[in-house]
Amino acid sequence: MPETAHALRLERAQALVGQGVAAIDTPALVIDLDAMDRNLQRMAAFAAARGLRLRPHAKMHKCAELGRLQMAHGAVGVCVQKTDEALALAAGGVDDIYISNQVVDASKLQRLAQAVASRPGMRWALAVDSIEGIVRLGKALAAAGVTASGAVGVFVEIDAGQNRCGVPPGEAAVALAIQVMSLPVLRFAGLQAYHGRAQHLRSTEERAAAIDHAAQAVRITQEALTRAGIEVPLVTGAGSGSFLLEADSGLWGEIQPGSYLFMDADYAANLPLAGAPVFEHALHVKTQVMSRSSDRAVVDAGHKSHAIDSGLPRVAHPAGLEFSNGGDEHGILKPARAGVPLPELGDTVWLIPGHCDPTVNLHEVMFGVRGGLAAGRVERVLHVDARGALG
Ligand SMILES: Cc1ncc(COP(=O)(O)O)c(C=O)c1O
Repeated sequence: MPETAHALRLERAQALVGQGVAAIDTPALVIDLDAMDRNLQRMAAFAAARGLRLRPHAKMHKCAELGRLQMAHGAVGVCVQKTDEALALAAGGVDDIYISNQVVDASKLQRLAQAVASRPGMRWALAVDSIEGIVRLGKALAAAGVTASGAVGVFVEIDAGQNRCGVPPGEAAVALAIQVMSLPVLRFAGLQAYHGRAQHLRSTEERAAAIDHAAQAVRITQEALTRAGIEVPLVTGAGSGSFLLEADSGLWGEIQPGSYLFMDADYAANLPLAGAPVFEHALHVKTQVMSRSSDRAVVDAGHKSHAIDSGLPRVAHPAGLEFSNGGDEHGILKPARAGVPLPELGDTVWLIPGHCDPTVNLHEVMFGVRGGLAAGRVERVLHVDARGALG
């Protein structure tokens, strides 16, 4: 028996399995499973054809079931950005997790170390960019009683051009690799080289130049490590906007795209790289017209149902409508040009979110629909397991 409003909401969501799309209450996140499956297969086929390891970024969907699905389609594991994302996905049965980010806080490292200790069959890895971070990781693992040799893989993160985390390319990485290798419980796994800002550069030339810069950073660092007698087992990085370029460089052995699975409006505005697989919009917000006047229709989705950091959502259906921000709970629709009819009160309107990652984080569940958004049925309810797992 569900006891809380939260449990009741989840029970009501689950009861929609098998029902038509019309039964999904709004606003709701809806995945077109046919489109998502094609995205899943296209990326898996690309990685396989290029001989690359595919480690999709699960920060995007935060869903253990989708992580497992990606692994069933050839992914070696998943990336996450946060300790608590890792723990949520591990609890949901994802058994190969790389935190592609810095973790230095003692309580987070303690949680991570305890998870490593209590799930011996799992594979774990973490990025580092400081000696102190490595020392703290080692101490946390020792305190949790983790002694197995190479229990946690460690990637040294270099700044590939974003000026975010990561040591400068070159010699700085050598000291970190040596520190990692000094602790038998850690395994030096290679380099983390991700250029986040490159992903949404619209022109192909700009993106190519940014990834050339990242490749140079990798080369300089590999050379410094080689001079020190250290072999680099793997270079990992790349996102949905640039993975073809990292693949073409021949330097990266693993790619970490996340958004390709759902494909948001912001990514769709990138000019495509020649030869890159094409991804379809699989993630939509289902909304309903709740107020209608002669010049506008107002839907029940504002920026509590979709993130607006990368732009407002696009209206996927009906065609010819422009979305403007009506606040936390409202979206305002107007005809994009003369002659386009406005939807009526109670009509369904489908939105494509500007940015999928923070949009997903606003929702408890995603409804997986098979057979198209117009006439399909709810096949499954996917839980956003790591929703709010920000620690
Ligand atoms: C470290 C890292 N790798 C890969 C990605 C790829 O993400 P996406 O393909 O969604 O842009 C991200 C996204 O922010 C990231 O932070």
